[in-house]
Amino acid sequence: MTTISIEQAGKYDGQEVTIKGWLYNLRESGKLLFPIFRDGTGIMQGVCALKENPEAFAALKGLTQESSVIVGGKIRAEQRAPGGFEMGVSTIEVLQKVSEATPFPIQLKEHGVDFLLDHRHLWIRTPRSAAILRIRAEAIRAARNYMDEQGYTLTDAPIFTPAACEGTSTLFEVNYIDDQKAYLTQSGQLYGEALAMALGKIYTFGPTFRAEKSKTRRHLTEFWMLEPEAAYAELDDMMALAEGLVSAMVQSVVKNKSRELETLKRNIQKLENIKAPFPRISYDEAIAILHKHGNPAKFGDDIGGDEETIVSSEFDRPVMVHRYPAAIKAFYMQPDAQRPDLALAFDMLAPEGYGEIIGGSQRIHDYDLLVKRLRENNLPEESFQWYLDLRRYGSVPHAGFGLGLERTVAWICGTEHIREVIPFPRMLYRVYP
Ligand code: 4AD
Ligand code: MG
Repeated sequence: MTTISIEQAGKYDGQEVTIKGWLYNLRESGKLLFPIFRDGTGIMQGVCALKENPEAFAALKGLTQESSVIVGGKIRAEQRAPGGFEMGVSTIEVLQKVSEATPFPIQLKEHGVDFLLDHRHLWIRTPRSAAILRIRAEAIRAARNYMDEQGYTLTDAPIFTPAACEGTSTLFEVNYIDDQKAYLTQSGQLYGEALAMALGKIYTFGPTFRAEKSKTRRHLTEFWMLEPEAAYAELDDMMALAEGLVSAMVQSVVKNKSRELETLKRNIQKLENIKAPFPRISYDEAIAILHKHGNPAKFGDDIGGDEETIVSSEFDRPVMVHRYPAAIKAFYMQPDAQRPDLALAFDMLAPEGYGEIIGGSQRIHDYDLLVKRLRENNLPEESFQWYLDLRRYGSVPHAGFGLGLERTVAWICGTEHIREVIPFPRMLYRVYP
């Protein structure tokens, strides 16, 4: 008998097949058993009758949730079944029966979030988690395809770094060899700049770390960032790239992961709207929107989570806010020639209250100005000598951005908190399991 994946069951209507998986649920009704199996690709409802298949019936009766099983039977169309097909179970082999003394901790009922996070290694088996992780994979695939098609080369930045990129308050310090200090990277950007001078257009994609003391639904201490960087590029080029990238990610998920979006009960229509071009507003215009909503923000204030939600509520797709006050942005950002108190920076804010998913800017390419900024920010010049070299040897205007993968996927999935979209979330008070 052919072994099939549940996802493919529709192609085997009327055929005898084998499914290798786990018992997800079992309902018993006298001489009939109604198991539900899962194999990682989906769930399959089954029916097993005592009269027709006494052996399989005996093996299945009383079987505990998450016992591993190899099941054989005939696939048939059944409108009411999840996926539109069910299996008439005729054989069953139990590989490991979960002991009744230690039943699977995650029952088909609501659990508290701390309990679920403590059992994350088992929680990921639920259809909801599986759907989210498949959407994450699709979003990554689409992002890499899009970047590759745009002529960007995937390169990798190091994780151990000698200095800060995004402010010293969120650095994780590491005891490196022989009492040297090193830090976990906050962003691959500085290395991306060096690579862009070597290869023209590059992107890095990897884990990044922030010792964030913030306990919000948008913060992790370990998250994944995709960071394009291009030589001879300016702010507008990056906004165009960013909207193309995000549209491609969302549309790929809508096209290829519609079943998973349905599992999550995500409003798909809202995602279908997410197509470039996205609205662009200046920081000044964002402040004006905040005033309209009675928010007292003034020039020079950071746009925090609540403010982001207000600004983005005006739009049905992501909005890009550009030209922030230089004083509230990172040391490496190029000032606006017309108004040097502004940085040529932009943030992309997702709709539906998901906040900033992208932060980017044009970078300072002038040697003297960069040295001045390093000093103003009390950054150790010795550690940045290699970075200054990029301004000594053929410096050119260049720009890039960082897309936070988990924030983007949380928005696409419509999850309450970003911790659900990474397999094993690292947060303020959690590094287990
Ligand atoms: O805005 P950020 O700090 O920008 C940078 O790190 C730049 N060096 C990127 C660049 O230009 N190459 O971070 C970029 C994105 C944010 O927009 C957000 O989506 C995500 O990274 N991010 C976080 N995601 C989860 N948890 C956190 N603690 C995050 N901090 C930032
Ligand atoms: Mg930012």
